[in-house]
Amino acid sequence: MTAPATNAPAASIKPRQMDFDMTLLKEKYFFRGNAILSTLMYALSASFPDGERFFIDSVRYYRDQIDDPVLKEDIRGFIGQEAHHSRIHQDFNDQAAGLGMAMEPIRKHFLRRLNFGRKRFNHGQQLAVTAALEHVTATLAQWTLENPQVTEGDSTSPLREMLLWHAMEEIEHKAVAFDVYRACVNDEQQRIRIAKIVFRTFWIQMAIAQVMLLWHDRRLPRWREIREAWDFMWGENGFRSWSAPEFRKYLRRGFHPNDIDQSRLLERWQSDFPEVAALQVA
Ligand SMILES: [Fe+2]
Ligand SMILES: [Fe+2]
Repeated sequence: MTAPATNAPAASIKPRQMDFDMTLLKEKYFFRGNAILSTLMYALSASFPDGERFFIDSVRYYRDQIDDPVLKEDIRGFIGQEAHHSRIHQDFNDQAAGLGMAMEPIRKHFLRRLNFGRKRFNHGQQLAVTAALEHVTATLAQWTLENPQVTEGDSTSPLREMLLWHAMEEIEHKAVAFDVYRACVNDEQQRIRIAKIVFRTFWIQMAIAQVMLLWHDRRLPRWREIREAWDFMWGENGFRSWSAPEFRKYLRRGFHPNDIDQSRLLERWQSDFPEVAALQVA
């Protein structure tokens, strides 16, 4: 059964092949020399490979029920992009593990949460988890692309370029899982209920992974690092302060990801970040 798709534009979603140099990551605490912010970046990156496989599986389960040719094509692009993100982030995670960061234990931590979700939730609920997490990534993406100070502290690793490229593709495919949910499940109450759980637990899981990384490295954050990390998240234009209203939008009945217009960020990413565009090989 397929309900009419949304008014999403028929933009083509295609994975870009990029040439990132992972060997540039040479310092454990590469991000502003700050252990809290660096472990936040590692935690995010460690969550991607298995997390994005979960996203792909939850959308793929419904693919055969979709008749709309535009949405079918979007699903193909979504799967291609997420599979590619998984591989690139795994390369980065391997490089970080080579420096001595406990990437494997935190990967397993996230995998246990995902496997719990696979066991406990039915397919419609798993797709609702994916749609909610796609809103998290699209929101993070907008903040990253609009605030150069987010990544400017990182000039010694490939993560800056990876985050900007990943952010742009997340915005490109932000509505796909949502549209599949709307077409095949279409339970607004469940979508909102699950999103509330996802939004509450996401940062808790990231914080647990950060503590695991710091504990493994026997590294106690310094007062300066705590202050800087607080500002990064809760200061003026910090992610948590900036994003709170963006998360509330998703919890409104009838919300659609394209209600938030981020198209200008896609139109101008190559001119805003020519050094990232230059890394595209296909
Ligand atoms: Fe992704
Ligand atoms: Fe995504």
